[in-house]
Amino acid sequence: MRSIASLTLALAAGATAVDFSRSHDTNSSVWSSAAELPAAASHSRSPISRFWNRPSKRQGGWSPPSDLATALQEVWDHCMSTYSDFWGFKNYGWDQIHATEGKINVCVRWESDSAVTEAQRAQVASVYAAQYQKWFSWLYDYDNFPYSNIDVNIVGWAVKDQSLLQGSTKGITVYTDTDADGVPQCSEACGRFFHQDGNYNSCPGGADAHYDHSLWLTDGFSGGAGGDWGQRIGREYFIGALGSSDVHILLHEMGHTFGLDDFYDWLPTGQTNFIMNAGSATVITDFDGWMLRNWWNGLSRYRGWQ
Ligand SMILES: *[C@@H]1O[C@H](CO)[C@@H](O)[C@H](O)[C@H]1NC(C)=O
Ligand SMILES: [Zn+2]
Repeated sequence: MRSIASLTLALAAGATAVDFSRSHDTNSSVWSSAAELPAAASHSRSPISRFWNRPSKRQGGWSPPSDLATALQEVWDHCMSTYSDFWGFKNYGWDQIHATEGKINVCVRWESDSAVTEAQRAQVASVYAAQYQKWFSWLYDYDNFPYSNIDVNIVGWAVKDQSLLQGSTKGITVYTDTDADGVPQCSEACGRFFHQDGNYNSCPGGADAHYDHSLWLTDGFSGGAGGDWGQRIGREYFIGALGSSDVHILLHEMGHTFGLDDFYDWLPTGQTNFIMNAGSATVITDFDGWMLRNWWNGLSRYRGWQ
């Protein structure tokens, strides 16, 4: 596993941020090729993408399509041999949804001086949740996955100044806390990252008010980063992408939160275009979906979740 020094610094005592994304994720040239792929950008117009993200349901065990099986095995073996503590690490997105029984509470870290309207916040919440559902649709009804819906909610916003949040803030908790680098973050007392034992006694509102990970929106941030702590993308990029059905950098970084790897230094046999190969696809492909299923299939058995 990899850590980005600045992120590790930014996180407080005790917890170590695990960043599954490589630093290449922050290189804007990596992503620009995908931004030019009109065919993949719209489901309605693309004959190819119509066959993507349509998981076949109700399969048990491990039964990937034969044309993906070899590549999936290569990816699994590669993760096992390169992640420093593959099974022992306990804060994958998988561990998070297991602890909450199928919910994800998210904190937005608004690293910007720009104001954000109530309508924009509602859009951020719905587009963010919709991106996660594109991944989770691969899990519902698959191999004893226990949840038929994972409820994704933005429960808090961390801002430099409360006045940046225009309109009503009903339904969210507003934080003006900062991390060690002075960047807005929701209260550590309420963050799973800081309380992986599930003890939120020091959080005002207790466990009900906790958040599992963060969506970090940073002015001028190029590309993305992702890990157990959440996802980080450019504020301008995400606000500009609120009308898109597939926010491809965010989809990729969400994959990292659920343990999926990058492919900057190798490619599995026969696979070139998929969301976890940064810049090569703008939608979750069958191969991405099966990599996610592979994690469920392996980790759920190892953890004794089925
Ligand atoms: C960024 O990505 C481009 C395209 O892949 C590559 O040519 C360039 O060397 C990368 N820059 C850095 C700093 O890694
Ligand atoms: Zn990545």
